[in-house]
Amino acid sequence: MDNLLVELRTILEPLVLAELFPRPAPLEVELGCGDASFLVEYARRNPDINFIGVERLLGRIQKLDKKGRRTGLRNTRGVRIESAYFLEYLLPAHSATALHIYFPDPWPKKKHRRHRLIGGHFPGLARRALAERGMVYLRTDDADYFQQMNEVFDAAQEFEKGVTPAALAEITTDFERDFNAQGIPTLRAAYRLIR
Ligand SMILES: C[S@@+](CC[C@H](N)C(=O)[O-])C[C@H]1O[C@@H](n2cnc3c(N)ncnc32)[C@H](O)[C@@H]1O
Repeated sequence: MDNLLVELRTILEPLVLAELFPRPAPLEVELGCGDASFLVEYARRNPDINFIGVERLLGRIQKLDKKGRRTGLRNTRGVRIESAYFLEYLLPAHSATALHIYFPDPWPKKKHRRHRLIGGHFPGLARRALAERGMVYLRTDDADYFQQMNEVFDAAQEFEKGVTPAALAEITTDFERDFNAQGIPTLRAAYRLIR
């Protein structure tokens, strides 16, 4: 089985999705997929969906390849790149039916908050990425970041609040399991693109 990590020929042109997957199918994207334990399990349970995991750290995205191949996944690929750049320049416009963003780095110091992935600019990036009625699923342990996530999406008229299906919520991420084991609950939100 070939390496699941995409070798980018260029970062100046959008990906050609038909070259990445053996079968056309709805596409879901996880940004900052870490060790890919969520993505591999979710993809295993949903063979009729194609998935891309995006992660900037090489050691972590290599785990997507290792675990994905061990699981025999043919519907999952990994891209090592920065998430916002991926959404803006590499993902074909309106191609994803869902974006998953779980436990993004919280940047807790006030002066560092501008580094957060989910800021005022993010709904615009998500709108470009998503197909009609596409979903954004969010999870974090950080109450301040959770408030910011809700504020930016509540203020974006293109989105309405949605719900996270139980079958999705029950698949936990690596960081989520650690936090939950320490008694720190998952804060969860979902938004649907409506216009
Ligand atoms: C706190 S970890 C959470 C990982 C995983 N989602 C989980 O819940 O187990 C955040 C991950 O996002 C990655 N990351 C942070 N900012 C990123 C960015 N702008 N683009 C791509 N990956 C990013 C980090 O390298 C790290 O693996």
